[in-house]
Amino acid sequence: MIYPIVAFGDPVLKKRAEDVEPGTDVKQLVEDMFATMYAASGVGLAAPQIGKGIRLFVVDAKPMDEEDESLQHLKKAFINPTILEETGDKWPFEEGCLSIPGVRADVYRPAKLRIRYFDADWNEHVEDYDGMGARVIQHEYDHLEGVLFTDYLSAMKKRLLKNRLADISKGQVKADYRMKFPAAPRRAGVR
Ligand code: NI
Repeated sequence: MIYPIVAFGDPVLKKRAEDVEPGTDVKQLVEDMFATMYAASGVGLAAPQIGKGIRLFVVDAKPMDEEDESLQHLKKAFINPTILEETGDKWPFEEGCLSIPGVRADVYRPAKLRIRYFDADWNEHVEDYDGMGARVIQHEYDHLEGVLFTDYLSAMKKRLLKNRLADISKGQVKADYRMKFPAAPRRAGVR
């Protein structure tokens, strides 16, 4: 099943997500999240983006750089993750987000991280990531904390984007995948 992706402005994107009850069968949900992510040509998708306030995200960073060997195997589901530490110099990268179509901006993030998480079989892992892999994980992890990449922008940049973000929440934006808009006007005759 392919879920509609929740757009900027929906409160679920600004709330800290709750842990998944350990042992819960999440396999179908994980499969559906990968399908939803691929349908939108994304490299990461967090559960709040399909309207579920739970600590689960999927990534497949392979399309980001076919030359980068470390990304070719980064197709994973992260359940109840905790970033244990972030180290290294902060570096900028122009990020986007499936919930905020058409908006991109430079975000500075630490170069490396160590993360603990469960996979869809509830095996626990502690792993280190750097480079683009770390970047994708940090962006998705932020979604579980109720943080969007636009939260990192300067006050001036935020002011410049304000109207565009308001338009996105109203559905006045083009995306080539199905979305759910929190502030879309109701159609006449529909209650
Ligand atoms: Ni995002």
